[in-house]
Amino acid sequence: MKVNQAEFVISAVGPAQYPEDGLPEIALAGRSNVGKSSLINKMIARKNLARTSSQPGKTQTLNFYKINEELYFVDLPGYGYAKVSMSQRQEWGKFIESYLLKRDRLRMVIMLVDVRHPPTRDDAAMYDWLKHYDIPICIVATKADKVPRSRWQKHVKQVKETLLVRANDKVVLFSSETGLGKDELWGLIANLAEL
Ligand code: GTP
Ligand code: MG
Repeated sequence: MKVNQAEFVISAVGPAQYPEDGLPEIALAGRSNVGKSSLINKMIARKNLARTSSQPGKTQTLNFYKINEELYFVDLPGYGYAKVSMSQRQEWGKFIESYLLKRDRLRMVIMLVDVRHPPTRDDAAMYDWLKHYDIPICIVATKADKVPRSRWQKHVKQVKETLLVRANDKVVLFSSETGLGKDELWGLIANLAEL
């Protein structure tokens, strides 16, 4: 897909701020620092529209990015960041949960995992939760540029086995550095969002 236009719309702290123009939404979930914001930037070929940081826990709100007046990417706060307090974590849970469960124009969750390491317990919990509620999922195994090509398949297999990925869920190998997986992911998104 050719991205002609991409704009940051809002950092929402609650449903009242969600956009109301009815466009389909694709949400990005994953641990802090896994590369959610970087993936958005790569997908829309912009350096820093979605704010990235080497400091985990940067994104704390639901950040909506409108693409071509056709869809939104919704950058969710990362989970599994130890320095976030328990009460903050519970708040996080409720806020994200209600978005994921109630938002009727949500078409798919892109769940990112770091392809270098086996998925964590938090990753498995997130995936199981999404499965349980029948939310369409695409798994993106990112930071592929950090693994030698000869080991890619082995690492992807490890992701699939650790998460018990269902046969119908796609696992896309991705790199926000090189753009690997970008076209494949756009293909999946375009299909689901009926673009
Ligand atoms: P939070 O907003 O804290 O939840 O993090 P995030 O998931 O949005 O991560 P972000 O995109 O900010 O990236 C975190 C760090 O990982 C940054 O230093 C990025 O440059 C780096 N990074 C992200 N994706 C890739 C990738 O595909 N390859 C490499 N080598 N580095 C990446
Ligand atoms: Mg981020």
